[in-house]
Parts: sequence; structure tokens; C-alpha cells
Amino acid sequence: MVPSSDYLKSLVDIEAGRISPEIFIDEDIYRLELDRVFGRNWLFLAHDSMIPKPGDFFSTYMGGDPVVVARQPDGSVRAFLNACRHRGMRVCRAESGNTKSFFCTYHGWAYDTAGNLINVPNLSDAYKDRLSLKDNGLIPVARIESYKGLIFGNFDATAPSLEEHLGDLKYYIDGWVDQVEGGIEVLPGVVRWTINANWKLAAEQFAGDTYHAPTSHASSLLSFGPAFEGKDGAHVAFREGHGESFLFKRHTRFSEDPLSVYNDAKLEAARDRVGDRAEFVANFTAFPAFSGLPGSSNIRVWHPKGPNKFEIWSFTVVDKNAPPEAKKAMQVSASFTEGPAGVVETDDGENWGLIGAILEQGHQARKMRWNYQMGDYPATGHEEFPGAYRDSFFGEAGHRAFYRRWLEFMTSEEWPVLTQEERDAFNKPGA
Ligand code: FES
Ligand code: FE
Repeated sequence: MVPSSDYLKSLVDIEAGRISPEIFIDEDIYRLELDRVFGRNWLFLAHDSMIPKPGDFFSTYMGGDPVVVARQPDGSVRAFLNACRHRGMRVCRAESGNTKSFFCTYHGWAYDTAGNLINVPNLSDAYKDRLSLKDNGLIPVARIESYKGLIFGNFDATAPSLEEHLGDLKYYIDGWVDQVEGGIEVLPGVVRWTINANWKLAAEQFAGDTYHAPTSHASSLLSFGPAFEGKDGAHVAFREGHGESFLFKRHTRFSEDPLSVYNDAKLEAARDRVGDRAEFVANFTAFPAFSGLPGSSNIRVWHPKGPNKFEIWSFTVVDKNAPPEAKKAMQVSASFTEGPAGVVETDDGENWGLIGAILEQGHQARKMRWNYQMGDYPATGHEEFPGAYRDSFFGEAGHRAFYRRWLEFMTSEEWPVLTQEERDAFNKPGA
């Protein structure tokens, strides 16, 4: 049964900071989420550097649906459902590569990299030439747009632009990707692993849950230097549903490894380009399911696989023009900390999986309301940093912004457009 808007609103009370865990486990809510959240939002597909040449492709997902992203002969990017128009079989079974066409291994239909159906075996004698190739191309992703090389797709043709959706979060993304000439690139190879929990637990955590770090990551952080405090950073919520929190600067340099040496060497020039943002150690979520870790060389996508299961896809990000030894060091650092067996990542996976198990098996636990009150004081604001800025590293304003937007999507028949007045009221210091 499709959950009613009244029911959904009874589960998510943003003002009180109370959320029912039903939204993390209920099958009907999950099905509606695939339609109204994943079916209408900008979802990260790939970075330009992953598909530089015509014919380059990358296989990924949008919500639960497999899609292929492909560079076209004219340099543009298209994406389409990775499902044959004949019986829905995957037409691309490779993770990535370069091709002139996609060949369905069930009955042999073939499509070009723009998704057009270009060959059907025995077209004349099997179909008596009554099959229109033109009408049987792959289902296209309605919109493809990119920001600083980050390519996103949207199944909803009516959605506002990607840049409008990213809003003030762009300023913080810029602070990461514009630090040096040439920007960033994504190294080959995606690390993927599965967590038995709801995808939103990971998305909300990256939207600003730095509160968990001193406890969950006590063992790994102990080796990184003194514990941090709220005054060492800030958290920012965005009306579009995004969230970010950051330390103003690294407490200690880890060692004399090539990555630290490179980061130190570039700092002055990076500060000239992006100011204080050059030193941020940050995490963010761009609503709904794209997150990044500026400072840890990592971007990731949360792919839902059911109400209580998701896959983490983790990409290593480096400065494009960094020397090879620094790139290698970034890759090692990203795997060491944020890989599936990383010293930080294993802590998070254990938390999410144990919560997922309680919701899967429990009954009383599903009746409670979780607490999302932290940081529910008015925005403090900052003259330089946009968004609803709060002057503590710890806070859940980003979480509440995420679920406010989630609820708007879940309860709206039409695409829930935001006005500038709504954004301004949300960001206003002291409001
Ligand atoms: Fe693809 Fe039949 S399912 S050709
Ligand atoms: Fe963590």
C-alpha cells in the first residue's frame, strides 16, 4: 500500500527533532522513495575523468535501476537504463570500458553508445520488417548535467537545474576541487561493499554527524592527535537537503609520507585560491545520496538495495596535476581509512549493520522515535560561509535539513520547487 502523506508526516517531525525508524525499514516507504526521491533527484553518475574519450562508459545505478553512462562522439555524455527493450536484460555487463555498441547477450539486439537500437538479428524473417528500430532505443536518463566535472543524472525532465539543486553547497565543493590548477580526477577502480542497513543512515551521517567520530572512531583517532571539540569546526545545513560539517584545520600532520608532504607544499597556493577552505577537513552529503570527504580523498554514492540494504561505492579523488607518488599516497590513505577494511570505515559499517539488525528483527524498537535535536538553535551565520551556518562542529541541523527535504519529496505529487524566500528564511542567522 502506498503510504499516505499524513502517515509520513507523522513519522518525521522536524520541529521536534523526532523521527520514526519506520522510514529506515518499511518496504512500502522504500518503494515510494525509489519513485519520489530517486526518481526525481540529481544522482551522481561519474566524474569526467572516468570517461574521458568517446565510447568510454561506466555502469552504475540510479536508485535501484542499473544505468550506463557513455561519452558520445561529440564529447557530450548520455546515460540510459541498462535494460534491453526486448526482455529487459542487461545490455552492458562490464563495469567500465570503451565500446562502439552494447550487445544484449540474450537474443542479440545491439545499441549504439547513444542508446539507439542499431541491430536486431533476423529482423526481416522474424519480424517481417514490422519492428521499428527508432521506437525501441534504450530508455534515456532524462537529464544529464555536470558541475566541475561531477556528472549527475535525473530521471525527471521537470527538475530544476543541477546547479540550482546544489545551491550554496557549491561554495564548499569549490573549496575542495579548485584548490589547485587542473582540479581533481578520480582514480580507476571503484571499491564497493554491502551494508545491511538503510542507505539514509550513511547519507545523514555524512551530512554532518561528526559527533560520532570521537566515540565510534576512538581507536583510530587516538593515533591522529588530540580529540577535537565543537569550537574546532562548524556545521552547515542547506535548504535543498544537503549538509556539511568541517574542522577548520587538521590538528596534526600524520607523518612525512608523500601525501602530507604534497599537502603541505600546496597549502599556500591553495589558500590563495580558496582561502580557509583549503584546510577544511570536511564531510558532506548532497541530497540525496552523494557524499564526499574533502580531506580524505574520497567521494561515495549510497546505492539502495532494499529497505535494509545498501551498497557503498567509494571513489578515490586526487588532484589531477599532483605528482604520481602523491596520487599513490592518496590512494593508500583513502583505502587505509575509508576502504571497506579501513580503520575508520569498519567502525561505521558495524554501527549501521547493528542498527539494521535491530530494525529487521525488532518490534518494540520500531515504535520509538529517534532523537535529532542537536544543533536546533538558530543559525549563527558567518560572513564568508553560506548556508545555515552553526558555529559548532557538532550538530544535526544538516540531518534535519535532509529529512525536511526527504519528506517534501515523499509527500509531493509535483516536483517540490523551493523559492528564494524559503532559502533565505532558512539561512537567516538568529531565525
Ligand atoms: Fe535483449 Fe532479448 S532481451 S535481445
Ligand atoms: Fe565515521
